Amino acid sequence: MSPRPTTIHVCSACGHESPRWSGQCPGCGEWNTLVEELRTRPAGASGRASGQRAGSAGATPVPLGSVAAEDHSRLSTGIGELDNVLGGGLVPGSLVLIGGSPGVGKSTLTTMALANLVAGGRRTLYVSAEESPAQIRLRAERLSAGAPLRIPVIAETDLTTVLATLERERPEVCVIDSVQTLNCAELTSAAGSVAQVREVATEIMRVAKANRIAVLLVGHVTKDGALAGPRVLEHLVDCVLQFEGERERTYRTVRAIKNRFGSTNEAGVFEMRDDGLVEVLDASARFVAEATRAPGSVVLCAMEGSRPLLVEVQALVSPSELEPPRRVVAGIDRNRLALVLAVLGRHAGIGLGNADVFVNVVGGVRIDEPGADLAVALAVASAARGIALQSAPGQPLACFGELGLTGELRSVAHGDRRLAEAARFGMGDVAEPQRFRSLRDAVRAVVAHERAAADRVALTRS
Ligand code: TYD
Ligand code: MG
Repeated sequence: MSPRPTTIHVCSACGHESPRWSGQCPGCGEWNTLVEELRTRPAGASGRASGQRAGSAGATPVPLGSVAAEDHSRLSTGIGELDNVLGGGLVPGSLVLIGGSPGVGKSTLTTMALANLVAGGRRTLYVSAEESPAQIRLRAERLSAGAPLRIPVIAETDLTTVLATLERERPEVCVIDSVQTLNCAELTSAAGSVAQVREVATEIMRVAKANRIAVLLVGHVTKDGALAGPRVLEHLVDCVLQFEGERERTYRTVRAIKNRFGSTNEAGVFEMRDDGLVEVLDASARFVAEATRAPGSVVLCAMEGSRPLLVEVQALVSPSELEPPRRVVAGIDRNRLALVLAVLGRHAGIGLGNADVFVNVVGGVRIDEPGADLAVALAVASAARGIALQSAPGQPLACFGELGLTGELRSVAHGDRRLAEAARFGMGDVAEPQRFRSLRDAVRAVVAHERAAADRVALTRS
C-alpha cells in the first residue's frame, strides 16, 4: 500500500493539528499561526504497532518496585559546569536540546564536549547540517580542550542519511547541529518548519532510544528567546538547556529549563575566549572586581540556580526629548523596570516621567527573579541623584529584595546565602528586606547617607 498524503494544518505556536485552516488556532488561541503542511503518513509509520487496536489483549501493569531500575551511569562531558547543569553528565539514550541565539557558542560548546569524550575513549559523532567539514575543522582547531581533531563528523542535511549513519556507527554521544536545518525529504515543507522540526526530533529520538545514543540537539531560538519550532519539541526531549548571552559579550550562562534526570535549578557561567568556552568558577569575584562603584552602579546578590551570584546592575538617567521617554533594558524584564519606576515615583519621591532610563546587567547576564527589583530601584535612584552608593568604603553597595506595589520590600528565597556571598567580598551592609521595610526607607538611608558623607568631604576640603 502506498502512503496516502494528507494535508493538515499545524499551529506554528503550539503545534496543534487541525484538518481545516482557520484564522485562530483552536489549540492556543493565537491568530494566523496555522500553516498548511503536506504530511505522508504511511500506515504504522513509526514501526511501533499500536497496542490499542481491537482484539489486543492489553498490557499488564507492574508494581513500580519490580521495575528494573535503569542504569543511569552518566557520561561526563569533561565540562564541569555543563555536567552540573545536566544533573551529573549525559544519560545514555537521552535527548538534550540546547537552545541559544546565533553566535552564542552552541557549536563551540557541543564540539568541546565531544572533544573531551573522544579523548576519554568514547564513540562520538558530530552531525552538522549547517557547516561544511572544513568550517567545523576551523573551529575545532581553535579549541584547546580534549581531542577535537579526532571527532568523527558528517556534514549532512538529509534526515534519512543521518538516521542510517547513526544506526550504523552507533556512537555513544552524538551532536545534531541543528534540529532546524535537518530535512526530512518526505515532507514538502521547508526545513525548520513545524512539521519538519517535529519529524526530525521524533525520528532522532526513536533511533537514539533504540541504540542508547545520548543526543545533544542544537536548536535555534527566535528573537524573543523562545525555541524556534513547535512547543512539542520541548515536551519530546528529556532535557532543555538554554544558552544565554550576547555575541558581543564575553559571559554566557547555561541553565536547564527542563530536566528529567536532574534539577532545573543549576546554571553555569562561561566566558568565550580565543580557544573556546572557559568555565567561570568564581563569577562573583569577577563581577565585583569589575563593578564601577560610580553613581548608577550597585551589586545585586542574585541566585543562579542554587548558587549565589553577585552581578553589577547599572542605570543611566538622562533628560528625555521623547514623549514617552525611553526605557531601555538589558538583562532584566522591561515590565519589571516599569514597575520599579512606578514604585520609585509613587512611594520614594523619585519621579522620572521626563527622563530616559537605561538599565543594564553587566556582562550579558540575564536575571529573571523578582529579587532584582531593589537593585534596579537603587541603581536608578543613585543615577538620578548622581550619588555613588557603597556597602563599605571602596566597596559597591550590595542589595537584593522584591518590591511590592505599595512600596514595601519583600523577602526573597535564600537571603542567608546571598548575604554570605556579599560578606565574602567585605560588603557587610547589604540593603535588603530584613534591614529596610520599604523602598522609601532604603532610598533614604543609602542615598542620604552617601550624600551626607559627600557633604562632609566637601566641608573638610573648603
Ligand atoms: P559558535 O559556536 O559557532 O556559535 P553558535 O553555534 O551558537 O552559532 O561560535 C560563536 C562565536 O564565538 C563565533 O562568533 C566565534 C566565537 N569564538 C570564539 O570567540 N572563540 C572560540 O574559540 C570559538 C570556537 C568561537
Ligand atoms: Mg553553530
